[in-house]
Amino acid sequence: MKRIAVLTSGGDAPGMNAAIRAVTRVAISNGWEVFGVRNGYAGLLAEEFRPLGARDVGGIMQLGGTILGSARCLDFKTEQGRLKGLRSLNRNEIDALVVIGGNGSQTGAAALSKMGFPVVGVASTIDNDLYGSDITIGVDTALNIALEAIDRLKVTASSHQRAFLVEVMGRNCGYLALMAGMIGGAEAVVIPEKETDPDKLAEEIRSAYERGKPHALIVVAEGAHYNAARLMDLFEHKKETLGFELRATILGHVMRGGHPTAQDRYLATVLGAGAVDALARGESGVLVGLINNQVTTTPLAEVVDGCKSLDLRLLELAEILAR
Ligand code: F6P
Repeated sequence: MKRIAVLTSGGDAPGMNAAIRAVTRVAISNGWEVFGVRNGYAGLLAEEFRPLGARDVGGIMQLGGTILGSARCLDFKTEQGRLKGLRSLNRNEIDALVVIGGNGSQTGAAALSKMGFPVVGVASTIDNDLYGSDITIGVDTALNIALEAIDRLKVTASSHQRAFLVEVMGRNCGYLALMAGMIGGAEAVVIPEKETDPDKLAEEIRSAYERGKPHALIVVAEGAHYNAARLMDLFEHKKETLGFELRATILGHVMRGGHPTAQDRYLATVLGAGAVDALARGESGVLVGLINNQVTTTPLAEVVDGCKSLDLRLLELAEILAR
Protein backbone atom coordinates (compact mmCIF):
# COMPACT_ATOMS: atom_id res chain seq x y z
CA MET A 1 0.00 0.00 0.00
CA LYS A 2 1.28 3.44 -0.91
CA ARG A 3 0.65 6.48 1.25
CA ILE A 4 0.80 9.72 -0.69
CA ALA A 5 0.40 13.33 0.40
CA VAL A 6 -0.88 16.24 -1.66
CA LEU A 7 -0.40 19.96 -1.11
CA THR A 8 -1.25 23.21 -2.87
CA SER A 9 1.35 25.94 -2.69
CA GLY A 10 2.02 29.54 -3.77
CA GLY A 11 -0.73 31.73 -5.21
CA ASP A 12 -4.01 29.83 -5.31
CA ALA A 13 -5.39 29.15 -8.78
CA PRO A 14 -8.99 28.29 -9.76
CA GLY A 15 -8.99 24.57 -10.51
CA MET A 16 -6.71 23.53 -7.65
CA ASN A 17 -9.67 21.80 -5.95
CA ALA A 18 -10.44 19.78 -9.07
CA ALA A 19 -6.78 18.68 -9.08
CA ILE A 20 -6.95 17.66 -5.38
CA ARG A 21 -10.11 15.68 -6.14
CA ALA A 22 -8.52 13.89 -9.10
CA VAL A 23 -5.32 13.06 -7.19
CA THR A 24 -7.33 11.73 -4.25
CA ARG A 25 -9.84 9.63 -6.13
CA VAL A 26 -7.41 8.14 -8.66
CA ALA A 27 -4.99 7.28 -5.85
CA ILE A 28 -7.81 5.67 -3.83
CA SER A 29 -8.83 3.65 -6.88
CA ASN A 30 -5.24 2.35 -6.95
CA GLY A 31 -5.72 1.20 -3.36
CA TRP A 32 -3.48 3.95 -1.91
CA GLU A 33 -4.04 6.15 1.14
CA VAL A 34 -4.10 9.91 0.60
CA PHE A 35 -3.24 12.71 3.02
CA GLY A 36 -3.88 16.42 2.45
CA VAL A 37 -1.27 18.84 3.78
CA ARG A 38 -2.60 22.15 5.17
CA ASN A 39 -1.23 25.44 3.77
CA GLY A 40 1.45 24.16 1.42
CA TYR A 41 5.04 23.72 2.59
CA ALA A 42 4.24 25.58 5.84
CA GLY A 43 1.88 22.74 6.79
CA LEU A 44 4.47 20.19 5.73
CA LEU A 45 6.97 21.70 8.19
CA ALA A 46 4.28 21.80 10.89
CA GLU A 47 3.27 18.18 10.08
CA GLU A 48 -0.33 19.16 9.35
CA PHE A 49 -1.48 16.06 7.50
CA ARG A 50 -5.08 14.90 7.36
CA PRO A 51 -6.46 11.81 5.68
CA LEU A 52 -8.45 12.49 2.51
CA GLY A 53 -11.18 10.05 1.55
CA ALA A 54 -13.35 10.03 -1.56
CA ARG A 55 -16.15 11.89 0.32
CA ASP A 56 -13.76 14.59 1.60
CA VAL A 57 -13.19 15.79 -1.95
CA GLY A 58 -16.87 15.70 -2.97
CA GLY A 59 -18.56 18.96 -4.04
CA ILE A 60 -15.30 20.92 -4.36
CA MET A 61 -14.66 20.80 -8.09
CA GLN A 62 -16.65 23.96 -8.82
CA LEU A 63 -15.03 25.96 -6.01
CA GLY A 64 -12.21 28.44 -6.54
CA GLY A 65 -9.32 28.59 -4.09
CA THR A 66 -8.05 25.44 -2.42
CA ILE A 67 -9.69 23.41 0.37
CA LEU A 68 -6.20 22.57 1.65
CA GLY A 69 -5.11 26.20 1.97
CA SER A 70 -1.96 27.59 0.44
CA ALA A 71 1.02 29.66 1.54
CA ARG A 72 4.28 31.16 0.40
CA CYS A 73 6.72 29.50 2.80
CA LEU A 74 10.07 31.29 3.21
CA ASP A 75 11.42 28.55 5.53
CA PHE A 76 11.13 25.97 2.78
CA LYS A 77 13.53 27.99 0.65
CA THR A 78 16.34 27.14 3.08
CA GLU A 79 18.31 23.89 3.26
CA GLN A 80 17.34 23.56 6.91
CA GLY A 81 13.64 24.01 6.10
CA ARG A 82 13.78 21.40 3.37
CA LEU A 83 15.47 18.89 5.67
CA LYS A 84 12.70 19.52 8.20
CA GLY A 85 10.13 18.89 5.43
CA LEU A 86 11.84 15.63 4.53
CA ARG A 87 11.82 14.53 8.19
CA SER A 88 8.11 15.38 8.40
CA LEU A 89 7.33 13.22 5.36
CA ASN A 90 9.39 10.33 6.68
CA ARG A 91 7.97 10.56 10.21
CA ASN A 92 4.44 10.39 8.78
CA GLU A 93 5.40 7.44 6.60
CA ILE A 94 4.51 9.21 3.38
CA ASP A 95 5.84 7.43 0.28
CA ALA A 96 5.36 10.23 -2.27
CA LEU A 97 4.25 13.86 -2.47
CA VAL A 98 2.16 15.65 -5.11
CA VAL A 99 2.83 19.41 -5.30
CA ILE A 100 0.15 21.48 -7.03
CA GLY A 101 1.58 24.93 -7.77
CA GLY A 102 3.67 27.24 -9.92
CA ASN A 103 7.33 28.17 -10.23
CA GLY A 104 8.26 28.67 -6.57
CA SER A 105 6.37 25.56 -5.52
CA GLN A 106 8.00 23.39 -8.19
CA THR A 107 11.43 24.72 -7.16
CA GLY A 108 10.69 23.32 -3.68
CA ALA A 109 9.48 20.07 -5.24
CA ALA A 110 12.68 19.82 -7.31
CA ALA A 111 14.77 20.31 -4.16
CA LEU A 112 12.89 17.53 -2.30
CA SER A 113 13.31 15.25 -5.28
CA LYS A 114 17.04 15.99 -5.36
CA MET A 115 17.16 14.89 -1.72
CA GLY A 116 15.82 11.52 -2.89
CA PHE A 117 12.13 11.88 -2.00
CA PRO A 118 9.56 10.84 -4.66
CA VAL A 119 7.73 14.00 -5.78
CA VAL A 120 5.49 14.83 -8.71
CA GLY A 121 4.44 18.39 -9.55
CA VAL A 122 1.15 19.52 -11.10
CA ALA A 123 1.37 22.71 -13.21
CA SER A 124 -0.83 25.30 -11.54
CA THR A 125 -0.55 29.09 -11.67
CA ILE A 126 -2.66 31.82 -13.23
CA ASP A 127 0.54 33.41 -14.62
CA ASN A 128 1.20 30.73 -17.27
CA ASP A 129 4.94 31.21 -16.79
CA LEU A 130 5.78 27.61 -15.92
CA TYR A 131 8.07 25.71 -18.27
CA GLY A 132 6.77 22.18 -18.94
CA SER A 133 3.12 23.02 -19.60
CA ASP A 134 1.69 24.99 -22.51
CA ILE A 135 -1.12 26.11 -20.24
CA THR A 136 -1.41 25.90 -16.46
CA ILE A 137 -4.34 25.43 -14.08
CA GLY A 138 -6.11 28.74 -13.37
CA VAL A 139 -5.07 30.65 -16.49
CA ASP A 140 -8.36 30.25 -18.31
CA THR A 141 -10.46 31.39 -15.34
CA ALA A 142 -8.20 34.38 -14.63
CA LEU A 143 -8.36 35.35 -18.29
CA ASN A 144 -12.14 35.13 -18.34
CA ILE A 145 -12.34 37.34 -15.25
CA ALA A 146 -10.05 39.90 -16.93
CA LEU A 147 -12.19 39.81 -20.08
CA GLU A 148 -15.38 40.36 -18.13
CA ALA A 149 -13.79 43.36 -16.39
CA ILE A 150 -12.54 44.75 -19.72
CA ASP A 151 -15.98 44.40 -21.30
CA ARG A 152 -17.54 46.24 -18.36
CA LEU A 153 -14.91 48.97 -18.37
CA LYS A 154 -15.50 49.55 -22.07
CA VAL A 155 -19.14 50.30 -21.36
CA THR A 156 -18.44 53.03 -18.84
CA ALA A 157 -15.39 54.26 -20.78
CA SER A 158 -17.55 54.75 -23.89
CA SER A 159 -20.19 56.67 -21.94
CA HIS A 160 -17.56 59.14 -20.73
CA GLN A 161 -15.07 59.14 -23.62
CA ARG A 162 -12.34 57.86 -21.35
CA ALA A 163 -9.17 55.86 -21.67
CA PHE A 164 -8.57 53.12 -19.11
CA LEU A 165 -5.36 51.49 -18.01
CA VAL A 166 -6.34 47.98 -16.87
CA GLU A 167 -3.58 46.30 -14.91
CA VAL A 168 -3.65 42.51 -14.81
CA MET A 169 -1.66 40.03 -12.72
CA GLY A 170 1.01 37.76 -14.14
CA ARG A 171 4.09 38.51 -12.03
CA ASN A 172 6.99 38.94 -14.51
CA CYS A 173 5.13 37.36 -17.39
CA GLY A 174 2.98 39.23 -19.91
CA TYR A 175 0.89 36.26 -21.02
CA LEU A 176 -2.35 37.28 -19.27
CA ALA A 177 -2.01 40.90 -20.41
CA LEU A 178 -1.26 39.92 -23.99
CA MET A 179 -4.14 37.49 -24.24
CA ALA A 180 -6.63 39.71 -22.40
CA GLY A 181 -5.56 42.66 -24.55
CA MET A 182 -5.78 40.80 -27.83
CA ILE A 183 -9.10 39.07 -27.29
CA GLY A 184 -10.51 41.88 -25.17
CA GLY A 185 -10.05 44.31 -28.06
CA ALA A 186 -7.62 46.64 -26.30
CA GLU A 187 -6.12 49.61 -28.11
CA ALA A 188 -2.67 48.83 -26.66
CA VAL A 189 -0.91 46.22 -24.53
CA VAL A 190 2.04 46.83 -22.20
CA ILE A 191 4.07 43.74 -21.23
CA PRO A 192 7.46 43.10 -19.63
CA GLU A 193 8.69 41.16 -22.68
CA LYS A 194 8.59 44.23 -24.94
CA GLU A 195 10.00 47.66 -24.20
CA THR A 196 7.38 50.38 -24.00
CA ASP A 197 7.92 53.99 -25.02
CA PRO A 198 5.42 55.97 -22.93
CA ASP A 199 5.42 58.86 -25.43
CA LYS A 200 4.47 56.46 -28.21
CA LEU A 201 1.78 54.98 -26.01
CA ALA A 202 0.38 58.47 -25.38
CA GLU A 203 0.34 59.02 -29.16
CA GLU A 204 -1.54 55.76 -29.66
CA ILE A 205 -4.19 56.88 -27.17
CA ARG A 206 -4.43 60.23 -28.94
CA SER A 207 -4.66 58.52 -32.31
CA ALA A 208 -7.54 56.29 -31.10
CA TYR A 209 -9.32 59.46 -30.00
CA GLU A 210 -8.77 61.12 -33.37
CA ARG A 211 -9.94 58.03 -35.25
CA GLY A 212 -13.27 58.49 -33.50
CA LYS A 213 -13.07 55.63 -31.04
CA PRO A 214 -15.43 56.10 -28.08
CA HIS A 215 -12.82 54.80 -25.64
CA ALA A 216 -9.27 53.50 -25.42
CA LEU A 217 -8.32 50.49 -23.36
CA ILE A 218 -4.71 49.75 -22.49
CA VAL A 219 -4.05 46.41 -20.83
CA VAL A 220 -0.95 46.61 -18.67
CA ALA A 221 0.90 43.67 -17.13
CA GLU A 222 1.71 44.20 -13.46
CA GLY A 223 5.31 43.13 -14.18
CA ALA A 224 5.87 45.68 -16.94
CA HIS A 225 8.36 48.44 -16.18
CA TYR A 226 5.64 50.97 -16.96
CA ASN A 227 2.87 49.52 -14.80
CA ALA A 228 -0.44 51.34 -14.30
CA ALA A 229 0.80 53.50 -11.38
CA ARG A 230 3.89 54.65 -13.31
CA LEU A 231 1.88 55.40 -16.43
CA MET A 232 -0.70 57.37 -14.45
CA ASP A 233 2.14 59.46 -12.97
CA LEU A 234 3.74 60.06 -16.36
CA PHE A 235 0.49 60.91 -18.11
CA GLU A 236 -0.53 63.32 -15.35
CA HIS A 237 1.62 65.93 -17.10
CA LYS A 238 0.21 65.35 -20.56
CA LYS A 239 -3.45 64.92 -19.77
CA GLU A 240 -4.65 67.33 -22.45
CA THR A 241 -2.66 65.66 -25.22
CA LEU A 242 -4.38 62.27 -24.79
CA GLY A 243 -7.81 63.39 -25.96
CA PHE A 244 -9.52 61.01 -23.56
CA GLU A 245 -9.72 61.50 -19.81
CA LEU A 246 -7.65 58.78 -18.15
CA ARG A 247 -8.56 56.32 -15.38
CA ALA A 248 -6.82 53.20 -14.06
CA THR A 249 -8.21 49.93 -12.70
CA ILE A 250 -6.00 47.33 -11.06
CA LEU A 251 -7.65 43.91 -11.19
CA GLY A 252 -5.20 42.24 -8.78
CA HIS A 253 -6.41 39.31 -6.71
CA VAL A 254 -9.93 39.52 -8.15
CA MET A 255 -8.41 37.50 -11.01
CA ARG A 256 -7.62 34.58 -8.70
CA GLY A 257 -10.96 34.30 -6.97
CA GLY A 258 -13.35 32.92 -9.56
CA HIS A 259 -15.11 29.61 -9.93
CA PRO A 260 -12.98 27.53 -12.29
CA THR A 261 -14.10 27.43 -15.92
CA ALA A 262 -14.83 24.15 -17.73
CA GLN A 263 -11.35 24.38 -19.28
CA ASP A 264 -9.67 24.69 -15.87
CA ARG A 265 -11.71 21.89 -14.34
CA TYR A 266 -10.75 19.65 -17.25
CA LEU A 267 -7.08 20.59 -17.13
CA ALA A 268 -6.90 20.14 -13.35
CA THR A 269 -8.64 16.77 -13.61
CA VAL A 270 -6.34 15.30 -16.26
CA LEU A 271 -3.18 16.72 -14.69
CA GLY A 272 -4.17 15.54 -11.18
CA ALA A 273 -4.93 12.07 -12.53
CA GLY A 274 -1.70 12.23 -14.55
CA ALA A 275 0.32 12.88 -11.39
CA VAL A 276 -0.96 9.67 -9.76
CA ASP A 277 -0.43 7.73 -12.99
CA ALA A 278 3.17 9.00 -13.10
CA LEU A 279 3.78 7.81 -9.53
CA ALA A 280 2.17 4.46 -10.34
CA ARG A 281 4.60 4.10 -13.27
CA GLY A 282 7.44 4.75 -10.85
CA GLU A 283 8.18 8.23 -12.22
CA SER A 284 9.23 10.94 -9.81
CA GLY A 285 11.03 14.28 -9.91
CA VAL A 286 8.77 15.35 -12.77
CA LEU A 287 6.15 17.99 -13.50
CA VAL A 288 2.87 16.90 -15.05
CA GLY A 289 1.72 19.43 -17.64
CA LEU A 290 -0.07 19.69 -20.94
CA ILE A 291 2.17 19.88 -24.00
CA ASN A 292 0.62 19.80 -27.48
CA ASN A 293 -2.64 18.78 -25.82
CA GLN A 294 -1.07 15.68 -24.26
CA VAL A 295 -0.54 15.08 -20.56
CA THR A 296 3.25 15.04 -20.42
CA THR A 297 5.94 14.75 -17.76
CA THR A 298 9.04 16.98 -17.76
CA PRO A 299 11.92 16.58 -15.26
CA LEU A 300 11.57 19.14 -12.46
CA ALA A 301 15.25 20.06 -12.87
CA GLU A 302 14.44 21.18 -16.44
CA VAL A 303 11.28 22.97 -15.31
CA VAL A 304 13.14 25.01 -12.71
CA ASP A 305 15.87 26.08 -15.17
CA GLY A 306 13.57 26.44 -18.14
CA CYS A 307 12.17 29.66 -19.50
CA LYS A 308 8.80 29.81 -21.18
CA SER A 309 8.72 32.27 -24.02
CA LEU A 310 5.83 34.42 -25.15
CA ASP A 311 4.74 34.44 -28.78
CA LEU A 312 5.30 38.09 -29.60
CA ARG A 313 3.64 37.67 -33.01
CA LEU A 314 0.40 37.83 -31.02
CA LEU A 315 1.35 41.33 -29.89
CA GLU A 316 1.69 42.39 -33.53
CA LEU A 317 -1.70 40.86 -34.25
CA ALA A 318 -3.22 42.70 -31.26
CA GLU A 319 -1.81 45.96 -32.67
CA ILE A 320 -3.26 45.31 -36.12
CA LEU A 321 -6.65 44.42 -34.64
CA ALA A 322 -6.70 47.65 -32.63
CA ARG A 323 -7.03 49.78 -35.79
O1 F6P B 1 1.67 33.87 -9.04
C1 F6P B 1 0.33 34.23 -8.98
C2 F6P B 1 0.19 35.66 -8.58
O2 F6P B 1 -1.20 35.95 -8.51
C3 F6P B 1 0.90 36.69 -9.46
O3 F6P B 1 0.18 36.99 -10.63
C4 F6P B 1 1.02 37.85 -8.50
O4 F6P B 1 2.11 38.67 -8.87
C5 F6P B 1 1.27 37.18 -7.19
O5 F6P B 1 0.73 35.87 -7.30
C6 F6P B 1 0.64 37.85 -6.00
O6 F6P B 1 1.06 37.19 -4.87
P1 F6P B 1 0.35 37.29 -3.45
O7 F6P B 1 -0.96 36.59 -3.54
O8 F6P B 1 1.31 36.62 -2.53
O9 F6P B 1 0.17 38.75 -3.19
